[in-house]
Amino acid sequence: MRVPAKFIRRLLLLCSLIAIVVMVLVGRTKRKQQEFAGAPAGKEATQKALSKPEKVQSELEEEAQPGVFDIYNPLNWHEHYEEIKERLNNQPVVSAQSMREYLKSQGRRVSYSTEVYKVTLQDGTDAVFKPGSGAEMEEAVSDLANSLGLGYVPPVVRREVTINGKSGTKSGLLSLYVPTDIDACTFSVTQMRDKLSTAADENDVVGWQCLNFLVGNYDLDFGNLLLASAKNSRVIPVSIDNEGIRRVPRIQYGELPFVRWRDLGGSHDQADKPFPFVDGKPCDESARRMLKNQYGIAVTRREHSYAIYNGYYYAQFTDEDPFTFMICPEELTAKTATTLKDLTKEKVVGIISKSVPDSAPIDEIASSVMDRRDALLQHFGLAAG
Ligand SMILES: Nc1ncnc2c1ncn2[C@@H]1O[C@H](COP(=O)(O)OP(=O)(O)OP(=O)(O)O)[C@@H](O)[C@H]1O
Ligand SMILES: [Mg+2]
Repeated sequence: MRVPAKFIRRLLLLCSLIAIVVMVLVGRTKRKQQEFAGAPAGKEATQKALSKPEKVQSELEEEAQPGVFDIYNPLNWHEHYEEIKERLNNQPVVSAQSMREYLKSQGRRVSYSTEVYKVTLQDGTDAVFKPGSGAEMEEAVSDLANSLGLGYVPPVVRREVTINGKSGTKSGLLSLYVPTDIDACTFSVTQMRDKLSTAADENDVVGWQCLNFLVGNYDLDFGNLLLASAKNSRVIPVSIDNEGIRRVPRIQYGELPFVRWRDLGGSHDQADKPFPFVDGKPCDESARRMLKNQYGIAVTRREHSYAIYNGYYYAQFTDEDPFTFMICPEELTAKTATTLKDLTKEKVVGIISKSVPDSAPIDEIASSVMDRRDALLQHFGLAAG
């Protein structure tokens, strides 16, 4: 039987069309699989790029591609927060290196005191594991920052981790590793002010300061600040080590926080009285002797003043006043002012109670966040929204 040439031509045309449609569909599926792969080219590329800090800049620029997001870019955390936490919760930890060794190998300064590891997850994601009991509070602050869109804190989860096949697990926090090619620890306060005023977005800087104020961070040094790199040489201040919130700090704008450091074992009957900021006393020799003899408190070298209130001893750490710049913005941006004005105690309780255990004083912590929010608004002559 003879098949007409016209029929063969049409058949060939149809086959070509089907082939094109199949190719387009396969391409799309592959792209979709890569969308949440950390880096567009997958696990190997992520590991390679992050072991070479100089690649950070170009890697973050990939954020510009539609449909692809880079989990290491702080600008993406707010939108993809739950997905990133899911990854941190579920991916097995395959290797761990002491953070101290890692920082030294990168020629970076070590400025911290506890046990911290840089770890790799099975899918190639770089993360940080810090054993210890502060994990709930750090997760609460990460949840708060990311859900309010105020400041940048890497996503944090609580995990049990086995370190390099050793027997037993340690519980602590697992947070996303933040790549940076800038060693913030080596900056003076003046250099940091300059860097942030020239290379960072004003909203990012003010958001970082307000978040520190809201949380009551008292661990104020540049070891707890990471400068992530984004497009066009923009740097993004990222806050880590945020567990200070549990010490319900009291802060006046322009002053360092008073941190609840010891329960003196007496009655707590002054809770409804205002905190005695004006009565803060210097921790001089005679005060040290009195605190030792009367309360058994051994004052550390970092404390420069103290107050006794509602049955607690409050310490004001570090006398390097320029560091108040980490918590006191000179002015608010419209965006940060709106976020602060709209904040309610119910919102804070709703967010922090997801990670902070019921046994913790959730209500007291939320009230202290709101007190600090009020102090900040009051300083700028604003009323709650
Ligand atoms: N998410 C992260 N991404 C990148 N580096 C990190 C991250 N978390 C911690 N680091 C690095 O590890 C160091 C120690 O972390 P962290 O400050 O949480 O520990 P710490 O011992 O509680 O600190 P401190 O001595 O201030 O109490 C940081 O200074 C930083 O260099
Ligand atoms: Mg620290």
